[in-house]
Amino acid sequence: MARVEIKQVSKIFTDHTAVSNVDLAVNDGEFLVLLGPSGCGKSTLLRMIAGLELPTYGDIFIGERRATRLQPKDRNIAMVFQNYALYPHLSVYDNIAFPLNVRGVDKKTTDDKVKWAAELVGLTRMLKRKPRQMSGGERQRVALARSLVRDPDVFLLDEPLSNLDAKLRHSAREELRQFQDRVGVTSIYVTHDQVEAMGLGDRIVVMQAGTIRQIGTPEEIYLNPADTFVATFMGSPPMNLVVTGDMTLGFRPENFLPKSHFPEASSVTSVTFRIHRVEYLGGDRLLYGNISGDLPETPVIARIPSSIHYTPVLNTDVAFAVANEELRRFDTASGKAVAQTATLPKRRTAHG
Ligand SMILES: Nc1ncnc2c1ncn2[C@@H]1O[C@H](COP(=O)(O)OP(=O)(O)OP(=O)(O)O)[C@@H](O)[C@H]1O
Ligand SMILES: [Mg+2]
Repeated sequence: MARVEIKQVSKIFTDHTAVSNVDLAVNDGEFLVLLGPSGCGKSTLLRMIAGLELPTYGDIFIGERRATRLQPKDRNIAMVFQNYALYPHLSVYDNIAFPLNVRGVDKKTTDDKVKWAAELVGLTRMLKRKPRQMSGGERQRVALARSLVRDPDVFLLDEPLSNLDAKLRHSAREELRQFQDRVGVTSIYVTHDQVEAMGLGDRIVVMQAGTIRQIGTPEEIYLNPADTFVATFMGSPPMNLVVTGDMTLGFRPENFLPKSHFPEASSVTSVTFRIHRVEYLGGDRLLYGNISGDLPETPVIARIPSSIHYTPVLNTDVAFAVANEELRRFDTASGKAVAQTATLPKRRTAHG
């Protein structure tokens, strides 16, 4: 296991800055997620940590070692890509054993390692199978096990679940997280899926256009986004933003509720809401409409739990409100958050 430190790292491809002056310290044993839209530089940053790209500027440390110019094979990292390749003619056992066989590791050690890794990813009973006899998720686990037998200091994963269907993706995510809790290898995981990032990460690094916008726990980032980019990137539907002049107000759809649901004396901001459309999601309903009144007319979304007794009436002015403590303020010109006041809930124990 090792700490990873990225110091003022930039990567400039001929005419394009893919990563710009990134500073980042990944703690020993931490599960860190790099999150951001397509093209924001996530893979490039990961590839520099792996040694597959050389930084244009800056330094990378793995453990105590300066690794900036080390060959990938000398970094003791394991990398799992979206398109991992298994050897179709080899059994699961031989696929997992492959990196050890290449190094000439003796049979007994190899056997112990393969069985240890297979157990960790839940493949013990499939060691004799060929890749074509397995589901996408199981194959993914073979790729994981194969990178594990090398006892890496750091695990680098680039969208490793993106070719799984939604259900499998969810269970693979759980498995991956449980597995990381058990093994405790420092892990850096790239995704553009914010739900995945929230579920997996001890901390999330939100990137945009080659720069870091915010680093924090999922709760910190969701509750107190550093700017309007993060506010709208995290959360589905995104945070509602209302431009009131120099200041932009933000509030999450789930905090925007019928006025009647707030206690008499509570401190709220009230608006008139005209609902145009209702989308039923099962556990929740999304109400699309426009607010007006105390705030400038703006399209917003409310998310109402189906368990709340409320019958939306379309195209009629109704009283809605948001608790003042749930309002976030951003400077309109810079998009940066100002004077955040929210108190954080207790951390989930599962993620330490
Ligand atoms: N070898 C290269 N030469 C030139 N430009 C590159 C090269 N590799 C990546 N880029 C550019 O750098 C930017 C960042 O690419 P990168 O692959 O890191 O994005 P990403 O965040 O991983 O995106 P995605 O979510 O789509 O995988 C992109 O604009 C991409 O076109
Ligand atoms: Mg990528």
